Amino acid sequence: PYAKTKDILSKAHNEGYGVGAFNVNDLEFIQAIVKAAVMENSPAIIEASEGALKYAGDGDVEKGAFILADMVRRYADAVSVPISLHLDHGHDLKHIMAAIKAGFTSVMIDASDKPLEENIRITRQIVEVAHAAGVAVEAELGRLMGIEDNVASAESVLVDPDEAKRFVTETQVDFLAPAVGTSHGAFKFKGEAKIDYERISKVKELTQLPLVLHGASGVPAQWVELAEKYGADLSGAKGVPDEVLQEAVKRGINKVNTDTDLRIAFLAGLRKHLAENPKEFDPRKYFGEAKDFVTEVVRDRMKMLGSSGKA
Ligand code: G3H
Ligand code: 13P
Ligand code: NA
Ligand code: ZN
Repeated sequence: PYAKTKDILSKAHNEGYGVGAFNVNDLEFIQAIVKAAVMENSPAIIEASEGALKYAGDGDVEKGAFILADMVRRYADAVSVPISLHLDHGHDLKHIMAAIKAGFTSVMIDASDKPLEENIRITRQIVEVAHAAGVAVEAELGRLMGIEDNVASAESVLVDPDEAKRFVTETQVDFLAPAVGTSHGAFKFKGEAKIDYERISKVKELTQLPLVLHGASGVPAQWVELAEKYGADLSGAKGVPDEVLQEAVKRGINKVNTDTDLRIAFLAGLRKHLAENPKEFDPRKYFGEAKDFVTEVVRDRMKMLGSSGKA
């Protein structure tokens, strides 16, 4: 059924596993994720960025929020595993209100680019509004950047655990995304993948909240190679290896944000289908194969993070 993100993440926090939060912009990715959750008997969090709301709503964020929420609710209510819908990287009250009105069960306020006091003030204001509507809130502390891109200044971009403690006490936020060395997209690390495990452990100990890892895609080599075999150029692509994610989950990460891996799998399926079937022009056929690849990637993540069987 359609579920609350807070229920999904409280269970994951109490039992010590990770749940994928998968980004969508359209109907196809929603179908692929719900199908994977059913096959794995796993909970799933579906998330939509402000850009996704704009895309789905043809430029109208409020309309897009309703359209995505209506679709997710329909697909979720047709299955027995819990599926929730989250607003990813909300930046302003207007977009957050649109998501709340549309029925999203959690929202992210991302004021991590602001100084601490301002981040606290903005986040607390969102928490008041959201909690009044029964909606949970995620916030972010620190800046998402690769550790090695900023060797000299890692301390200034990664989360400060003492600040995290103060932040959650003063804002009453439900989930916290601490910057620990990952970054968004398909090109995360130049050398070896590096994240600060100790910092995750400290933040968990001091906050006792479900923690969120952004920029958590694995960018699996087999999918990159398949997409490249059919003409894509993703040279230099590198993500967070499974073993690194599993250690991060052991240290306290519960929500594992994944967008890039789904995009690459969809791209590989689409390119493969079009290359092998030059006469095909029915979108249900070429989206069909692309969707199946997304389902496969999502299932792999559910197994790897430990959410399979936890519905
Ligand atoms: O964190 C960003 C997510 O991958 C969503 O990306 O803003 O391009 O929709 P987007
Ligand atoms: P990836 O780019 O690693 O998939 O991260 C997605 C994300 O953090 C969405 O908020
Ligand atoms: Na988010
Ligand atoms: Zn993110």
